[in-house]
Amino acid sequence: MHFQWYPGHMTKAKRMMQENIKLIDLVIELLDARVPISSRNPDIDELGKNKARLILLNKSDLAEERQNDAWMEYFKAKGFAVVKVNSKKGGGMKSIQGVIQEACKEKIERDRKRGILNRPVRAMVVGIPNVGKSTFINSLAGKACAKTGNKPGVTKGKQWIRLNKNVELLDTPGILWPKFEDQKVGLHLAFIGSIKDELLNAEELAAELIRRLRVYYPGVLAEKYGIEETEDSYECLSQIAESRHCLLRGNELDTEKAALLLMDDFRNGRLGRLTMEFPEDYE
Ligand code: G4P
Repeated sequence: MHFQWYPGHMTKAKRMMQENIKLIDLVIELLDARVPISSRNPDIDELGKNKARLILLNKSDLAEERQNDAWMEYFKAKGFAVVKVNSKKGGGMKSIQGVIQEACKEKIERDRKRGILNRPVRAMVVGIPNVGKSTFINSLAGKACAKTGNKPGVTKGKQWIRLNKNVELLDTPGILWPKFEDQKVGLHLAFIGSIKDELLNAEELAAELIRRLRVYYPGVLAEKYGIEETEDSYECLSQIAESRHCLLRGNELDTEKAALLLMDDFRNGRLGRLTMEFPEDYE
């Protein structure tokens, strides 16, 4: 399978982020907890240097809890503040305010020494498409907070959301494009649905997922679909088609339909909480 991306979008998004980054104290970087490395754009380290950094393992409800904790330790060891969140349900949101203050304590201290008191921390949310940036902003901001409108010194049109007296959030998140140089990254992003399915061969992708699940989570497919997990991934897919009555005219098995069904079950957590990348492979 071969993945490609479109550089035009990338240049524009990067320019927007470079402009905005000057205005902010804290970069809140969202990763997908199922594939924290593949969903991370390495350019953010260059872009966010000299800024306080917070990593959020979003969609943690879809990833294995034990692995979420292992990934938290992994990023903490690299000096990041880390919180695992479920933006859709609001899980993990309570602790974020405290973590933000802690991550920005050097800036707050610097301000204090210069006699600047109570200047709110300004934060920007960044991440690859579909990682949950908008859902997160809505969840964190809730109904209670109002937009603060334009401010002097801020590029016209930028809106800030006042979360409380301590934190302001830029309401437009920074979009980073994933890096596809490594085909494994492309595959991981395809698993979680971050690459348009029309660009992919559904059966090939499903076969790759089956291969992974058989190794990392043996028994999951057998239990969900009542199939035998054989070495041959395409054979497994045929069994899923059979067990789910995916049939073409003439009773031929519709393995494409089965592939789409499998991917949908995986992406929506119906196969359980499954992680596709493990910290020990990235030490
Ligand atoms: P983006 O701004 O980064 O592009 O992402 P966005 O917030 O639009 O979220 C992309 C999808 O991910 C949405 O699903 C959203 O509901 C889902 N999502 C975001 N955070 C979480 C999370 O923590 N857990 C889970 N399980 N899902 C999350 P969608 O299918 O586009 O919409 P919907 O069906 O949820 O309405």
